[in-house]
Formats: sequence, structure tokens, C-alpha cells
Amino acid sequence: MTELDPRELRRAFGGFMTGVTVVTMRNTSGMVLGFTANSFTSVSLDPPLLLVCPGKSLSSYHEFSTCNRFAVNILAEGQEDVSNTFAGFKGDRFAKVEHTLDTRGIPLITDAVATFSCKTHKVVEAGDHCVLIGQVEAYNYTEIPALGFANGRYFSLGLECGALEPTGLEVVCGAIIEHEGRVLLEKTEAGFRPPQVTLSDRRQLRDSLRRELHACGVDAHLGVIYSVYDDPTTHHVYTLAKAPDIARPGNLDVVAIKDLATLSYATQPIATMMARYALESRTRDFSLYLGSAQQGDTHSLSERT
Ligand SMILES: Cc1cc2nc3c(=O)[nH]c(=O)nc-3n(C[C@H](O)[C@H](O)[C@H](O)COP(=O)(O)O)c2cc1C
Repeated sequence: MTELDPRELRRAFGGFMTGVTVVTMRNTSGMVLGFTANSFTSVSLDPPLLLVCPGKSLSSYHEFSTCNRFAVNILAEGQEDVSNTFAGFKGDRFAKVEHTLDTRGIPLITDAVATFSCKTHKVVEAGDHCVLIGQVEAYNYTEIPALGFANGRYFSLGLECGALEPTGLEVVCGAIIEHEGRVLLEKTEAGFRPPQVTLSDRRQLRDSLRRELHACGVDAHLGVIYSVYDDPTTHHVYTLAKAPDIARPGNLDVVAIKDLATLSYATQPIATMMARYALESRTRDFSLYLGSAQQGDTHSLSERT
């Protein structure tokens, strides 16, 4: 057998798209430790098992390979800094990253897509890594899109969609915000539309929209991208979102989903999108539209919403 080139093999392995997690624990002296890992895999539902592979080069390898408990945090789109901190920062990683503690005192990263508090089920020696298998004792999850990683680079659905954007177009980013069967809409002279912001920098889409909504008094949890289309001057990105509370919707109108079809909308693509939303929300079987203002394709989102 010919000798394998480890650098090439690493590249080949790196072609597999993964999410990004931060694995955390508390050692016997009470010190919290964590490292970034994309070797996470769900393993079993009964019993509930997951795995992650700490490398022997980690400064915390001994602690992770002998721990009784640990937690896995799946990072969200926009948490590249958190990933980089837990992959490279040599000081107190937890001082730089917002977190809470689970009931066992193990750190859980704030705003992660999901967190799993585990007791160690088994540790299997495997070359220059070990396979740390955990039994999930508690977990939390949200519908925020996860951060992706492939070929040594981060990616996200938002950026992928952004890649469709021809350069030079301004970007409109909006959110269909739902709360218990009702949706928040902005009334303009041209008609209704989801609340939205206009930007020139597409990397700031989510943050800018979140900030704008917050300024209007709406605290929305932005979810998956729902519709991406271009017209000759503008790139449009609409996400699904949930509002925990719409008691004071500011200058926005609150419309029951069943009444969405009766409204007059600001543009035809928005009318089409809202009609699709009204239909899909009956079964919660949502899809992502990618295309132009006139025609495009829908892709099922049902596994991710
Ligand atoms: C996206 C990404 C995924 C990683 N996945 C793993 C992994 O699965 N296992 C591992 O041991 N190290 C992984 N690393 C590297 C560790 O995070 C890094 O070596 C570690 O934080 C170094 O910690 P130390 O300074 O305490 O040794 C990954 C790094 C990145 C950026």
C-alpha cells in the first residue's frame, strides 16, 4: 500500500461539510475548559448518544478524555468569533464569550443553535484523537441557522444566498415575524410588506435587521432564510422569524395569518411570498425560494424548521 500524504488526506476529509461546535467541561479543580470541534456527530436516540473527537494535541486532551461530563454547543451563523476563540485564543476563552452554566456547572454558549449536556458514555482510543461518546441528559435548541464549515472555511446559508447577489445591487433584508398565528407587517403607501432594512453590505444582514427591529420595539428571533430574489436594482433576502411577544408592535400592524390573503402588498413578489407563507404555515412545511422576482425554485426547509 502506498503511503498516504497526511496533508492531502486532511484536505480530502475537509471536503465534508460540517457544522461547528464548542465542547466544554469543568475539570476537577473547577476550571472550565473548551475547544472548537467539527467532529461532532449524533449517534443514537435510544439511548441518546452523541460523539466528538478531541485530538491528542489539545492542551486539555487529558481532561476531555477522562471527564465524567461535558457539553456540546452547536454554533449559530454569525458565531465565527466564538469558534475562533475556542480554536486559538490562549487566554481565558470563557471571559470573551457569553455563556451560562448548566445544572452541573458546565458552560453553555449563549445564542448557540443547540446545547447538549452529557455524561460520558464511553471513550474510545483512535489514533491521534479519541472518540468521546456522551449520553445526553439535557438539551436546548432554537431554529437559528447553524454556522457551517467546509474546506477550512466557514459558511452559512445566509452567505450562500448572498453569493447569488450580483455585485453592485443594494440589498433589502426583511423578516416575516410570527407570533401565535399572527404576523407583523409594515404598512407603506404602496401596500403592506414585512419589516425590512436596505443595506449596502450584505455581511451585516442579520445584525442590521435585528437592530432595526429592536429600534422599532420588536425583539425577533431570526430563523431560516425564506426567500431570496433579485430585481434589476435590488437583492432581496427575507427570513422567517418569531417574536416572543408582540404586545407593543410599534408602528407595525399585526395581521392574522388567515387574513394575509385579503391584504394589498407593496410589490408583486412580496404578495407571492406572503401567499406562499400563508399556504405553507398551514402545514408548517416551509420552503426556500431562490430566483428572480419573476421565476425561481423552491427548496424544502421542512427538516430544518
Ligand atoms: C472549525 C474547527 C473545527 C475543529 N475541530 C476539532 C476537532 O474536532 N477536534 C479537535 O481536537 N480539534 C479541533 N479543532 C482544533 C481545536 O479547536 C484547537 O486545536 C484547540 O482549540 C486548541 O486548543 P488548545 O490551545 O487548548 O490546545 C477545530 C478547529 C476548528 C477551527
